[in-house]
Amino acid sequence: MPSDTTEIFRILTVAPNLIQIEVLDADQFKQDASDFTIGSYLKISDDSNTSIIALVQSFKIKETTIGGTAATTKPSFILDAQPIGFLDENGKFKRGGQQIAIPPNNVSIADDAILKGIYESVEEEKKFCFANLAQKQNIEIAVDGDKFFSKHIAVVGSTGSGKSGTVARILQEGISPSADQTQRGVLNNTHILLFDLHGEYKTAFPKSKKLDVNNLVLPYWLMNSEELEEMFIESNENNSHNQISQFRYSVIQNKKKHNPSVVNPSYDSPLYFSLKEVHTFITNLNNEVVGKADTENARPKLSDGTLIDDRCAYYFDQTRTFVVYSTAAATKASNGPFNGEFDRFVMRLESKINDDRLAFLLKPKKTATTEFTTEDFPTILKQFIGYNDDGKDNITIIDLSEFH
Ligand SMILES: Nc1ncnc2c1ncn2[C@@H]1O[C@H](COP(=O)(O)OP(=O)(O)OP(=O)(O)O)[C@@H](O)[C@H]1O
Ligand SMILES: [Mg+2]
Repeated sequence: MPSDTTEIFRILTVAPNLIQIEVLDADQFKQDASDFTIGSYLKISDDSNTSIIALVQSFKIKETTIGGTAATTKPSFILDAQPIGFLDENGKFKRGGQQIAIPPNNVSIADDAILKGIYESVEEEKKFCFANLAQKQNIEIAVDGDKFFSKHIAVVGSTGSGKSGTVARILQEGISPSADQTQRGVLNNTHILLFDLHGEYKTAFPKSKKLDVNNLVLPYWLMNSEELEEMFIESNENNSHNQISQFRYSVIQNKKKHNPSVVNPSYDSPLYFSLKEVHTFITNLNNEVVGKADTENARPKLSDGTLIDDRCAYYFDQTRTFVVYSTAAATKASNGPFNGEFDRFVMRLESKINDDRLAFLLKPKKTATTEFTTEDFPTILKQFIGYNDDGKDNITIIDLSEFH
């Protein structure tokens, strides 16, 4: 920029959020900045060498002939720029406001060194970079990786604006080893789990682990209490508290039955239980008749006369036939506490168990005849967060587009 710049531009307005500059000689002003455009940065300085950095927001051509006399032979234009920060005494970019002596006397297009100062101010070892400045492709935009990944991130934009593309780019960068890791020959320790709602990310990660409706192993017994109840209990039925208490009891007892070595399994423990057996248990409760004759103490009584002390020993393996309701003294028998209470509950369990759309969850088969049980837990976890041992990318994509 020549020392006498009064022929090139004129500062029209300086306000906290707007600096207006009239550019009189466009060719001189741009010099070799051929990519000067909306979104470019300007450096505006005063006599004492304080500089504000401002972002060009709009551009308009100024009428150069007034009253029929040409004021200048060249058309001039007006730039509206928004101040975004300033350069401190060491030339380092700082965000925020800074006073500038009025009128400022120099305007120039911010050079690469300034732009780098704005965007590449992150410490070298924390740099995480997934984008370049649109107006200047050679300027990388780095963020502090530690801060970036330790918070929630939202990628927002109107439809078709490139959100999915941006997410893919961020994740691709996230799984690739840093320069330092490459140099030391160590793996990038990240593992990314991507829930792909629309099945659109596979092509961006050709070497990813891919799970979908056909190969995802997610047995129901990994669900916690809330999830189980949400799936099987209809909370607006007026006996739902009984459904919950008996479902909970039978799940815990069934977990005990199948995991005898575990001390006091809880409702939420990730341990195998058989949903089919729980269904059978609830069915038996729903049909239960108890003996009321003198010595029978209201114990459940089967049609062959067996009196049941421990329901768990009889109710999981098969549906039982009970004695019939009777008021005769010798055969006195009446309905158990939940007889007929669980008609709808039993039907709901049946229809969920037989729903093909839920088969991946409720009937996951290890082989044609075996189920995944507690000892498969590590293998099940490994499909999500395990390391690939075949040199694949450390990302698991769960394609949810085919789940209903
Ligand atoms: N940085 C980019 N440069 C050029 N084209 C891009 C860029 N990012 C995305 N696109 C293209 O724009 C189109 C829409 O991108 P994308 O699917 O990522 O948008 P989206 O915001 O996720 O849309 P939707 O709201 O429909 O999910 C795609 O065809 C993609 O190839
Ligand atoms: Mg999208």
